[in-house]
Amino acid sequence: MSSKDRREFLKTACMPVVLAAFGISVLEACSTEEDDDSYEYGASGSTSNPSDPVKLDISSSDFNSLQTVGGWLNFTSKNILLVRISETEIRVFDNKCPHQGNRDKWTYNGSQFTCGYHNNSYSDSCSGALTCYDAELEGNNLTITF
Ligand code: FES
Repeated sequence: MSSKDRREFLKTACMPVVLAAFGISVLEACSTEEDDDSYEYGASGSTSNPSDPVKLDISSSDFNSLQTVGGWLNFTSKNILLVRISETEIRVFDNKCPHQGNRDKWTYNGSQFTCGYHNNSYSDSCSGALTCYDAELEGNNLTITF
């Protein structure tokens, strides 16, 4: 490749391709597209990577219980417990029980989750035993970061 060709190549190729061409491993995709801000609708939404943020439109009928303060949901397809704390806050936790890791027998009494396997209870505070995730609520759009 002549130096003129290389200059032209560097001008037109995006950075990850350039780095890869010079033997440097890169993980980022070569794309100039902006992130897609669309929200997943309903409980069937999916993401390509388990650690990607999950975006939920809680106006979907799948999330009816989260429309009222005190309402909660065990959203098993994402392994998360969600609880409506206030008009402006939904807390999100890993639904893995700290005792033996079961995920599917939760109840909520307004301040604590109880796992039905051995009846251990855990606070709905983010400083409790349940793993708490960042959750940002804007209108009906909830973004959860793992
Ligand atoms: S597995 Fe949840 S209380 Fe034992």
